[in-house]
Amino acid sequence: MKSMIRLSLLTGTLAFASEQVQIAGQQPLFHDACPSESIALDDNAIISNVAFHSNKTQTWQSLEESRTSASQIRDFPWTFRPECFSNENTTEPFCVFSDQTFASGRGIFIVGTETLAYSMLEKDAFRRPEVLDRMNKYDNPSFEQHEFPGKGRGLVANKTLHRGDQIFASTPLLITDPDIYQLSTSERLALLYRGVETLPPASQASFWELMGHYDGDPVDDRINTNNFELSINGISHSGLFPEIAMMNHDCRPNAAYFWDARTMTHYVHALRDILPGEEITITYIDNEQPRAKRMKKLERNWGFRCSCSSCTAHPALTAESDSRLHQIAALLDMLNDWTPASSATPEAVELLVTLYEQERLHANLATAYKHAAEVYSSFGRKFEAIRYARLSTELSMLDKGFADEDVREMRNMSKNPEMSWSWNKRVGLSGKSGCGCARKH
Ligand SMILES: *[C@@H]1O[C@H](CO)[C@@H](O)[C@H](O)[C@H]1NC(C)=O
Ligand SMILES: *[C@@H]1O[C@H](CO)[C@@H](O)[C@H](O)[C@H]1NC(C)=O
Ligand SMILES: *[C@@H]1O[C@H](CO)[C@@H](O)[C@H](O)[C@H]1NC(C)=O
Ligand SMILES: *[C@@H]1O[C@H](CO)[C@@H](O)[C@H](O)[C@H]1NC(C)=O
Repeated sequence: MKSMIRLSLLTGTLAFASEQVQIAGQQPLFHDACPSESIALDDNAIISNVAFHSNKTQTWQSLEESRTSASQIRDFPWTFRPECFSNENTTEPFCVFSDQTFASGRGIFIVGTETLAYSMLEKDAFRRPEVLDRMNKYDNPSFEQHEFPGKGRGLVANKTLHRGDQIFASTPLLITDPDIYQLSTSERLALLYRGVETLPPASQASFWELMGHYDGDPVDDRINTNNFELSINGISHSGLFPEIAMMNHDCRPNAAYFWDARTMTHYVHALRDILPGEEITITYIDNEQPRAKRMKKLERNWGFRCSCSSCTAHPALTAESDSRLHQIAALLDMLNDWTPASSATPEAVELLVTLYEQERLHANLATAYKHAAEVYSSFGRKFEAIRYARLSTELSMLDKGFADEDVREMRNMSKNPEMSWSWNKRVGLSGKSGCGCARKH
């Protein structure tokens, strides 16, 4: 299942600072988490001593000097000589690593530790640049930018999109390690500004076109407002994708996104058919929460009042919606119970599916379908299991990614339910008795 934290955009402004502390507390530091992945490239250890500057902006090279220095080091993977800062609170220096050739010249910069930056070089996105041939191609898009009064920019479809149609496949302009907050603000900003300067001109322009939402530092504001949380080697980082940042939030979105770490690509797909004139929306939050919670979170983290229909409808209608969400939560509890006392039934899971449909929670429907596949499988009902496994696979791929664990599990189930762990698990258990003692003979 997709965790909450991956589902949401990284929170902006003040909330960012407090949440990043939480992230650091929950997640082990990179080198502790993956000792085997600490840099295996002997050359780089030597290179870093030679090439990395540090601690004082006064001693930083000009961009052109820095480019020349980098080009003089054989096989150096970065376009500029990295600049760094460290202090008594950092376990490793934080540096800015920049590659202008990344993704056919779109460029990328990483503000983080050397360990992080070099672990990214191991990804296919860097090692096999041809995997990015299909990314960042927006010559003749099926949407256009539109100015919504009182709401700002957004994307509107200008031709029909069908469920599963790709809207974006973008590589990040920048990736930052949340731990850079261990640096002083001025040092952190110095690295970020340097990073932006190292981007190729077109990418720099897209960066500056982004909107912020508070009156802080212009670079910090743009990054914090538009960041997406990315998982890289199981650790949370944030990435910036200017195209995707143009999409507005809706609590009942018609598009879904996921991050593919191998190709370092952020995908957005249509979750249902989208007609010309319709705004293309994604979600910034977990939409299974009741209206009041959703509104509070959006206001706090992004500074806007939720204006989508599920927030602004008549109180009688939003109360109905909250009540359905409440029932969804109760049904999920029931369906997650795999003890002999479980009262899960096919009827319960059919109700779950229709509740998600009624709520227009298309992405979340992938989970309902998965439950349905498992419930039918647990009662030995092969063809219903296959039907729902197929439905779940399709939607999960759009929301969780082509390589997601749930996708693989449901794909297996759709081929051979009898081999799944849930097969016949509940056969012979009476749904009603709840005690598991009603086995039939
Ligand atoms: C930067 O300064 C800190 C002390 O403030 C020191 O521990 C660290 O080694 C310095 N970093 C480099 C790369 O010189
Ligand atoms: C290190 O962390 C402590 C405690 O948060 C803080 O008081 C101190 O200023 C930090 N040092 C630097 C160089 O940022
Ligand atoms: C849709 O808008 C884009 C501009 O974003 C334009 O390039 C494209 O030709 C338009 N497509 C149609 C079918 O009008
Ligand atoms: C899918 O099935 C294959 C082979 O039948 C198995 O190796 C793999 O672990 C299964 N994957 C999941 C996620 O169940």
